[in-house]
Amino acid sequence: MSESAMLEVEGLRIAFGRREIVGPLDFSIRRGERVCLLGASGSGKSMTAAAILGLISPRAGCSGHVRVNGHEVLNIRVPQRPEDARVAMVFQDTQSALNPLVSIGAQLAEPLRRHGGLNAAAARAEARELLVSIGLPGTDAFLRSSPAEVSGGQRQRVCIALALACRTGLIVADEPTTALDVVTQAQVLDVLKARTSAPDSPGLLLVTHDLSAAMRVCERVLVLAEGRIVEDGPIGDILNRPRHPFTCDLVDCACEGLHLPREVA
Ligand SMILES: Nc1ncnc2c1ncn2[C@@H]1O[C@H](COP(=O)(O)OP(=O)(O)OP(=O)(O)O)[C@@H](O)[C@H]1O
Ligand SMILES: [Mg+2]
Repeated sequence: MSESAMLEVEGLRIAFGRREIVGPLDFSIRRGERVCLLGASGSGKSMTAAAILGLISPRAGCSGHVRVNGHEVLNIRVPQRPEDARVAMVFQDTQSALNPLVSIGAQLAEPLRRHGGLNAAAARAEARELLVSIGLPGTDAFLRSSPAEVSGGQRQRVCIALALACRTGLIVADEPTTALDVVTQAQVLDVLKARTSAPDSPGLLLVTHDLSAAMRVCERVLVLAEGRIVEDGPIGDILNRPRHPFTCDLVDCACEGLHLPREVA
């Protein structure tokens, strides 16, 4: 493993029976690096994320290597993974990511107590601080709320707070803003970027088909087409000099949408 890689994917292949869905894939992410996995619908983004997270269907055949913080985790279910190889996740569907019967404060306190070793009072104080740091109220009333009592954008920020509370070295966010309006999308993406930007922040793998989300948050892009990485580089380079037909179409569509001449992108 390269010295500072938090995630290293090497020769990853995912198949259902004889149908190869993904691979072979090779890439790595450092702590504090924000990388986008960008691709069309069906290109294999969520399958790749699920293999990294340990949430892939048992019917999928996975081979190759996925190392988190130096530990091999491919085909190892989440409870069996070492503590320092855990990966936090943020999904599109916030309703099912959060427990509807447990208050937001109690859900945030749980990982802070379990992984941070905090007592109840310290966990509650830290939950408040986390909420405030991502633009949510740190009030008793908000902590007592159930997930159903706050808006979709607030719920997604709570999910980001929850991912941060897990104190992992890597966060995987699969289409975290697709269900939100564009203004709320921008707010949530800015929070995600702000909390993953310092050198000691967790690394971020943002899975999306949305080029504007990638541009807003990430410094590097991996373009996935039919289960293979067809481009990997700094986002500016890929926007200015797209090589693969999928990337060219994506950039052209984004420019058309903004009524920009192609060379301004
Ligand atoms: N349980 C499954 N059994 C068989 N094939 C599957 C299964 N789940 C997904 N696939 C196939 O794997 C391929 C990749 O799916 P995946 O969900 O990774 O796409 P994606 O890039 O995340 O797309 P989207 O942008 O629509 O979320 C698809 O062709 C899909 O049909
Ligand atoms: Mg998907």
